[in-house]
Amino acid sequence: MVSVRVLSLLGTILTAVSMQPALAHAGQVGSAIATMHKQDSLPRVLVLATGGTISGKADTRSAIGYDAGAVSGQQLIAGVPGVEKLAQLQVEQVSNIASQNMNNQVWFKLAERIRQAFAKNEADAVVITHGTDTMEETAFFLDNVIRVSRPVILTGAMRPSTAISADGPANMYEAVKVAADPQARGRGVLVVLNDAIQSARGVSKMHTTELQTFHSPNLGVVGYVDPATVRFITAVKPRQPLALPVDHMLPQVQIVYGHADMDARQIDDAVKDGARGIVIAGMGDGNVSDTALAGMERARKAGVVVVRSTRVGSGFTNRNVEVDDDRYGLVASMDLNPQKARILLQLLLANGKTTPEDIQSAFQAGL
Ligand code: DGL
Repeated sequence: MVSVRVLSLLGTILTAVSMQPALAHAGQVGSAIATMHKQDSLPRVLVLATGGTISGKADTRSAIGYDAGAVSGQQLIAGVPGVEKLAQLQVEQVSNIASQNMNNQVWFKLAERIRQAFAKNEADAVVITHGTDTMEETAFFLDNVIRVSRPVILTGAMRPSTAISADGPANMYEAVKVAADPQARGRGVLVVLNDAIQSARGVSKMHTTELQTFHSPNLGVVGYVDPATVRFITAVKPRQPLALPVDHMLPQVQIVYGHADMDARQIDDAVKDGARGIVIAGMGDGNVSDTALAGMERARKAGVVVVRSTRVGSGFTNRNVEVDDDRYGLVASMDLNPQKARILLQLLLANGKTTPEDIQSAFQAGL
């Protein structure tokens, strides 16, 4: 764990004292110490690096290929000029993986480290560097289990650190800038890339390659960050975090993708596999074939919770439109896409919520 502040200040003092002896008079040393005092007044931001393209390096495999996670968090920070003027930075490498490999173990490590850092007052905010593929899921998981008001910001990049016009350094700078801003307190976990500040609940990766891939189609952005300001455009909302499962286990919840000619095989197989929940990525407003609906009814009779979401990238999945949720004991995911509905259902089941009524009200509580 290396403090960027100490390194940069040592450089300042050594330059003042050793490079040109004539300069090593009280004035120069004094200004270096003044710099140290100024830095001491900056917010303390703990950077937890997990890997992803932001720390990726181009490789010879192909023109666009790269190895995510090839650069450490420390090296990442070193490549962001001026960031040390925003905050006192401490960098820790939690993992170094492409985020398609993100997993529950890293999630629980992040949650416990964040809770510990805030409980021991080691940091005023946390920035997590992360791959973009599953960033929305990690953000949503943490948003549902972190109980403190201090900012937790996730950021990443769509181009590796070695690419022409790499976007990582600017995203990193903006993430630290938002984390260090008092306005970010009490807003839960946020995602900051490309000047946009987005909520963990609302944000989703909507394009495979675009820099501006993250959008919040149902809830909209919550603010903007630019070289001059950090500006929030929504009010702070009350939050009802869930308890982090003490055994660090999340129940099995499977996602079944809807399509033309849909049958019930995957639904029946999920029940046989011991799934405690099934999320349907349904067609349109969370619709399924009659055959699949019969499978969902069998799953309900086997005690499996079934949530209807949608494969469509935006819009709400509402109760009792084309599917009689009341009759079949189903849950409608409202604004949540399938991957987030799965996470919320896992956490609710782990917290002892098992009836469709309790689970439905929890899905609506965050709105
Ligand atoms: N492999 C993807 C990931 O780590 C790259 C996407 C990115 O980080 O931009 O999520």
